[in-house]
Amino acid sequence: MKSMFKLHATALLTAGALALPAFAQQAPLKVGLMLPATGTFAALGTAIENGFKLYVTEQGGKLGGRDIQYFKVDDESEPSKATDNVNKLIKRDNVDVLIGTVHSGVAMAMAKAAKDSGTLLIVPNAGADAVTGPMCAPNIFRSSFSNWQQGYAMGDWVHKRGHKNVVTIAWKYAAGDETIAGFKDSFQKAGGKVVKELSLPFPNVEFQALLTEIAALKPDAVYTFFAGGGAVKFVKDYAAAGLKKSIPLYGAGFLTDGTLEAQGTDAEGIHTTLHYADGLGTARDNAFRVAYVRTYRLPPDVYAVQGYDAAQMLAAGLAGTKGDISRKADFSAALRKAKIDSPRGTFTLSKNHNPVQDFYVRQVVGKENKPAGVAIKALADPGRGCSMQ
Ligand code: PHB
Repeated sequence: MKSMFKLHATALLTAGALALPAFAQQAPLKVGLMLPATGTFAALGTAIENGFKLYVTEQGGKLGGRDIQYFKVDDESEPSKATDNVNKLIKRDNVDVLIGTVHSGVAMAMAKAAKDSGTLLIVPNAGADAVTGPMCAPNIFRSSFSNWQQGYAMGDWVHKRGHKNVVTIAWKYAAGDETIAGFKDSFQKAGGKVVKELSLPFPNVEFQALLTEIAALKPDAVYTFFAGGGAVKFVKDYAAAGLKKSIPLYGAGFLTDGTLEAQGTDAEGIHTTLHYADGLGTARDNAFRVAYVRTYRLPPDVYAVQGYDAAQMLAAGLAGTKGDISRKADFSAALRKAKIDSPRGTFTLSKNHNPVQDFYVRQVVGKENKPAGVAIKALADPGRGCSMQ
């Protein structure tokens, strides 16, 4: 009896296998969201998740014809827990795709796990140069930026403002180090001099001694990388130390993105560069912003855009495989040639799978980072150390 049942089951399975595409497409696509839900980057994780889900909802809840099933891990922006955390999604939950994360150190551990296991990874923020450099792989993509890219975008522009001697200050980890390196690249090429590079460990916010040092050094300007809760405190402390009036403060746009409610008037007038700004005025961006506010009752920011675009990128890859994520080469080929219709403006991916995009100059006016020109058009990350062609 038992063996007859087995025989039937096998026959049924075989018949099912012949009709596999339709069957497979009905199984939900398992999406693993590895983002910070706690710590200095918690709000950034929320915005990325919101953005991702907004795009999915706009597609009727499906991507590539497949329902979406979410699995979530709070990565706490903690690199020492990153490998264990990503393996919960890869090995325990068996996800089809990883979406994460914010912190560069955590993202590098995710990239290693993605490369080793062959799981598709789309990075919706972390700029770690290595992810689209030496660690690049056919199954690893980024919807955001590289750290070099965002730093490089501002150096020339700050020099053109007439600043010759600059002090930099950032958290001491990949994102801070690489953003400052990118800034130096273009600032020094333009003839500027970085007189001192100050740093403190992530996620410390004891800025006082460093602000005293800046006051004593009296540079023409200060360039920074801070984000999330740390950026809020830095901008407030900079103003409270009386430096805002005497030494202009610049930064990678994260300094004032998703933070303006908390920074209040202390952020007013600050110039930054980033691949997004509030009020670009395009139909695409307007529609995105209206939908985001209506859905979440929160102001849209760059993190929401990057999450939204991670979902668009997943859809673009699936469109090339009729929803079958196991066709890895076809998925990769489709996404490599995709044009992503982002709220930031349309972008394509460079050979190392990082967005080729415009970087806007923005200035804080009230609660918004208003566009004030383009610092650099169609900037591509050089993909140093990536051998993918
Ligand atoms: C990073 O760690 O790469 C990082 C974190 C927060 C940001 C941007 C980059 O806003």
